[in-house]
Amino acid sequence: MKIANIPLASPFVVSPMAGMTDTGFRRLVKRQGGCGLVVTEMVSSEGIVRGIDRTLEYAEYTEEERPVSVQIFGGDPATMAEAARVVEGMGADIVDVNMGCPVPKISKHNAGCSLMRDPAHAERIIREMVQAVKIPVTVKMRKGWDEGDLSAPEVAARVENAGASAVTIHGRTAKQSYGGHADWDFVADVASRLSIPVFGSGDCVEPEQIVERMRAGVSGVFVGRGVLRNPWILAQAQDLLEGRAPRSVSLEERGRFLLAYIDLLLGEAEGEADGFRHSLERKDAQSRPLGADSREPAVGRQKWVINKLRALCGWYSKGLEGGAQLRVSINSAQSIPHLRELVEAFFLRY
Ligand SMILES: Cc1cc2nc3c(=O)[nH]c(=O)nc-3n(C[C@H](O)[C@H](O)[C@H](O)COP(=O)(O)O)c2cc1C
Repeated sequence: MKIANIPLASPFVVSPMAGMTDTGFRRLVKRQGGCGLVVTEMVSSEGIVRGIDRTLEYAEYTEEERPVSVQIFGGDPATMAEAARVVEGMGADIVDVNMGCPVPKISKHNAGCSLMRDPAHAERIIREMVQAVKIPVTVKMRKGWDEGDLSAPEVAARVENAGASAVTIHGRTAKQSYGGHADWDFVADVASRLSIPVFGSGDCVEPEQIVERMRAGVSGVFVGRGVLRNPWILAQAQDLLEGRAPRSVSLEERGRFLLAYIDLLLGEAEGEADGFRHSLERKDAQSRPLGADSREPAVGRQKWVINKLRALCGWYSKGLEGGAQLRVSINSAQSIPHLRELVEAFFLRY
């Protein structure tokens, strides 16, 4: 399948997740196979335009992640168009607009899901962005603001009309946040009305569910929390789609994934990347915690890596035998060597 002129090797996508799907994590998921597209964590259009260091870090990616979509949020059409130009200048394949975030900090600025309460304004933003760049502009939205305002059919039609190349719908309202269930019938219904690809999102935690959702009539599936629990889920879904039994993943492979993630995070903290890193010139000081000596990571950097592992293990340990014990032990990690030991003790006990 394709989004405009961008071919995707598979219809399965690593859904954007703020704080979770950083470049290191995305690279590791991509290496397992089955992943057609990755999307960055959402980044502020204002921050991009102003060149704010922390914002720019969230938009970074490496060559092996391609095709890459950079997701931006904001409510001002001119700023969104300018941010799209910057994203295009970084070399990203696609620029995606967040119309799904329900967090008040975002939505009160007429951004994120609050755009779904003003479909004409949402359309205006997409039109200005499409006029500003040559790369495809896509939109990720929810079902609507609440059950009384299910605007996705209208917003999807309007953004298609404004030139969007694809739409993703998370089948919940902003009001629901993550409660209840994603409404895939609703998503499939919107998909049937549009000519551009429509991706669905929500509640796929087993590879079988991803394939089942595909068959319900969407062009592809964005998988969020399912990837955090099981980074092999997209590869397993592709196995199923191609008539093979889903690959099994050993405890050791799961442990090696975490060890590789620690290494990539340390590389990030040191400002290294394995492969060319696409980033923008920074206008203010480095915000990533740097240490002077890479053999002995600085305290701030160790803490940052440990916190990232804690966040991932909250999901990664779900469904694992002894998962609660893993969470407790990772929470007790005092240093990177200690963290590695704990991971090895849990996953690599032969
Ligand atoms: C921790 C977390 C962070 C998220 N951050 C974003 C984000 O930055 N942009 C976005 O469009 N969606 C974001 N989402 C929503 C997911 O991309 C996805 O649409 C939603 O979780 C439903 O899919 P799932 O059930 O497969 O997780 C986030 C979800 C979670 C759990």
